[in-house]
Amino acid sequence: MCGIFAYLNYNVNRERRFILQLLFNGLRRLEYRGYDSAGIAIDHDQPLVFRQEGNIESLVKSVYQEVDALGLDLEKSFSVHAGIAHTRWATHGEPAPRNSHPQTSGDENEFLVVHNGVITNYQVLKETLIRHGFTFESETDTEVIPKLAKYVFDKANEGEGSHTVTFSEVVLEVMRHLEGAYALIFKSLHYPNELIACKRGSPLLLGVKEFNEESNSGSTFHDSKFLSNNDHPKELFLSSDANAIVEHTKKVLMIEDGEVVHLKDGNVSILKFDNDKGRHGGSLSRPASVQRALSVLEMEVEQINKGNYEHYMQKEIHEQPESLKTTMRGRLIRGGSCKAKTVLLGGLKDHFKTIRRSRRIVFIGCGTSYNAALAARPILEELSGVPVTMEIASDLLDRQGPIYREDTAVFVSQSGETADTLQALEYALENGALCVGITNTVGSAIARHTHCGVHINAGAEIGVASTKAYTSQIVVMAMLALAIGGDTISSQTRREAIIDGLFDLPNKVREVLNLDQEMKDLAKLLIAEQSLLMFGRGYNYATALEGALKVKEVALMHSEGILAGEMKHGPLALVDENLPIIVIATRDSCFSKQQSVIQQLHARKGRVIVMCSKGEAVSVCPGGLGRVIEVPHVEDCLQPVINVVPLQLLAYHLTVLRGYNVDQPRNLAKSVTTQ
Ligand code: F6R
Repeated sequence: MCGIFAYLNYNVNRERRFILQLLFNGLRRLEYRGYDSAGIAIDHDQPLVFRQEGNIESLVKSVYQEVDALGLDLEKSFSVHAGIAHTRWATHGEPAPRNSHPQTSGDENEFLVVHNGVITNYQVLKETLIRHGFTFESETDTEVIPKLAKYVFDKANEGEGSHTVTFSEVVLEVMRHLEGAYALIFKSLHYPNELIACKRGSPLLLGVKEFNEESNSGSTFHDSKFLSNNDHPKELFLSSDANAIVEHTKKVLMIEDGEVVHLKDGNVSILKFDNDKGRHGGSLSRPASVQRALSVLEMEVEQINKGNYEHYMQKEIHEQPESLKTTMRGRLIRGGSCKAKTVLLGGLKDHFKTIRRSRRIVFIGCGTSYNAALAARPILEELSGVPVTMEIASDLLDRQGPIYREDTAVFVSQSGETADTLQALEYALENGALCVGITNTVGSAIARHTHCGVHINAGAEIGVASTKAYTSQIVVMAMLALAIGGDTISSQTRREAIIDGLFDLPNKVREVLNLDQEMKDLAKLLIAEQSLLMFGRGYNYATALEGALKVKEVALMHSEGILAGEMKHGPLALVDENLPIIVIATRDSCFSKQQSVIQQLHARKGRVIVMCSKGEAVSVCPGGLGRVIEVPHVEDCLQPVINVVPLQLLAYHLTVLRGYNVDQPRNLAKSVTTQ
């Protein structure tokens, strides 16, 4: 849930000013992962640590003040320098400097650690370390790690004049004792100019920028060495995700669970435990040296900038016509000699038979990703003929719900790293189900650990509130439904209508984005409300849930999505002339039922705002009662993609008008990598 970043330059002269800027920029790119406190450590005579409560800018301010107070020379150049940085979303201990990272082994900063994840056995380790004389200053789970490193280091050097144990050996020993999920970067007074990164469960990437680029093509890490000439100037980056690396280099290595990556003298060496039982506290085998190839990031720097928009969420809402096109590119086929209309999902091609024969398809996800699956469920049921069930990942785990060998379990996740979804994936793998991943993040844990899958290709989503990933997920699942469902004569017209609808969807989304001003006006009207209900059903029950989730998470206004069919079974009691209710009543097979819901709400003097298909205002609001949001009509199963857009815009404008931080909603962070 936090963001970790590190920088190491080798044979490149860099001023302290540059190194600080670089660490701060890395943190700014990762800030969406957590923003309640931050910290960095840089080299001096001994490592210097700066930690601050609040966002990155508060850290930047306080670092420069301290740098002034310490009289540090910002123009001082370093040809080798190793710095680490962290932005935090608190799990253990309130946001405060003592709980911020880097966490330290003690006053001398002999070992420093930045951590993303949760150490589940930290209490036991803490008690043991206290018995060995260590004192703790934070409430974090992380503090045990640098202290354990110091303990291991001291133990290994007992009776020795100078230390013989290597940095990797210290970290490998520390790792043996850790349970839980983590990505860690270590820095040490005893190993100046070296960094160690390791992970289990949480994401971590290494970026490599060589100043002699040619020598780097097709590089592999091999037997503790990589790159053709170790004296080549180079810069190395470690980061929780690619956003903080892509502006420096596109050459990356996705570090794998159990690997210990050692950066020293321009070399990168990798050791790996060849089993991975550490997460659950099992024993680890002896580590061995491994060889890995660099991959190239398919990502542009522009994707992670705001461009002409004020906020990432705003940019990402308006990007949807383009992101949907990218999602469908190369996957929808129309025309050709036989005029066939079909769908190609290469990542699944060897598995369709198994999926069709499954006893059921189980969708598993959290939050917005779960809602997207819920929106796609009816079309999957209709076209595949396979029963489809839904599971919120945490609930499946709490219940240890049934997953069978004959099931296809589909894991939906924008980040591909959500801890609950990832653990549900492990559970489904253990139970023998075919596991399919639908994610936006190439190389993510869910993408790597599922048997097969589809990337939604929506582009980097940085706003904490998921918007464009939601619509792309629905489109991928609609394509999945088309691909699983056989091309039978009886379904041909329907399939062709959906494919035509998909081709036209980006245009329709562009059209619905014209409601921006109208939604801003509606937001002005609702700005002071305590609560906002949204009623939907059928394809648009998910839209009601998703619209309400957006309003509550960014505008910090209570909002609830309600299945309209349940209205009479409780929620109707809330209805009066004050409580605003958005009823989604676009044209589909549930339309007449929604008309009746609207009438019943009016009969109780409800304050109704109706979302309807263009030109249907009169049929949904007889006598001009209430306010109407008219949206373009598309094929019923694609209508959720259109209908959610005005609700995203409404949530966005409500947030700005209420003066809240759109991209960093209170208490939240993107990519929930802790349970
Ligand atoms: C809401 C939101 C969250 C995520 C959820 C799952 O806007 O973004 O509800 O959808 O945390 O995240 P992923 O999709 O990354 O697994």
